[in-house]
Amino acid sequence: MHKVIYDTDPGVDDAMALLFLHRHPEIDLIGITTIFGNASIETTTRNALFLKREWNIAAPVAKGASVTIDPSRHERPWPTMVHGENGLGDMPVPDVIDLPVDPRPAHRFIIETVRANPGEVTLVAVGRMTNLALALKEDPEIAGLVKDVVIMGGNFYVPGNVSPVAEANIHGDPEAADIVLTAPWKVVVIGLDVTAVTTMSRSYLGDMAAKGDKAVKQLDELSQSYIDFYKHAVEDGMMVHDSCASVYVVAPELFKTITGSVRVVCGGIADGQTVIKPDGRRFPPGDWDGLPSQIVATGIESEKVIGLIRETLLRV
Ligand code: BDR
Ligand code: CA
Repeated sequence: MHKVIYDTDPGVDDAMALLFLHRHPEIDLIGITTIFGNASIETTTRNALFLKREWNIAAPVAKGASVTIDPSRHERPWPTMVHGENGLGDMPVPDVIDLPVDPRPAHRFIIETVRANPGEVTLVAVGRMTNLALALKEDPEIAGLVKDVVIMGGNFYVPGNVSPVAEANIHGDPEAADIVLTAPWKVVVIGLDVTAVTTMSRSYLGDMAAKGDKAVKQLDELSQSYIDFYKHAVEDGMMVHDSCASVYVVAPELFKTITGSVRVVCGGIADGQTVIKPDGRRFPPGDWDGLPSQIVATGIESEKVIGLIRETLLRV
């Protein structure tokens, strides 16, 4: 069993990944922590509570950061053209969900849960890395107590999606991402190199909805405008970014990876760019030296990943 804390900014693709984590028989979802990104922290937290209620998820929800780790960073408008005004593709969601939020801020929830389960917790982070960076700042020892960190973020040998060189989750808080990627824990980086080629078509999702229960039908409903948005890049389908990271937890054999130290560019025209120094490559002394070697996905068996998502979501 993999004990997972899911750090998320729901978010259309975040919602699918949440249902995957909830339904996979080898995953024990022990916490949901929210982060701003696809919408404000109020909205992403409300959405997490909504999905928890609709899908009967037992895991507590803890509310996370509302601003970048360096609060002087300038915030850009929420990506409503991607995830809708309400972060869930504008499906009807009540303003307030009558469920309690964990009293701790997300980063402290992470620290305390990791300390209570030493060596057992996998952090799956599919939004900005702010909560994880805050947890490391407050309690650096947790790096040695976490089992694995799997993140959706970054791009290495392909273009970005919010700038020619940067991916949204990393670009949204580059300083936080650099802290997370250079800390002494094992991070698996599932970036656009693999998520941008892992797409689910509208008809495939529709077929799942026809066979599935209420949760899968809701997923189909909330994904429609996201699929419309992806018209520029995908033929009538969507990239399932965050689900790829969740799939890695249970099926790492479906990914091809390389290892090396990873840094994030902070500032300038390449703000938020992720750069790996692959292990074994020699360069003059530089900013990648002496850092932990992380695992970066460069290949994926997309069809099998999509098939596993389907099989898992249709389990009840
Ligand atoms: C990432 O950014 C968000 O819009 C998605 O939820 C995903 O986590 C893709 O770049
Ligand atoms: Ca996300």
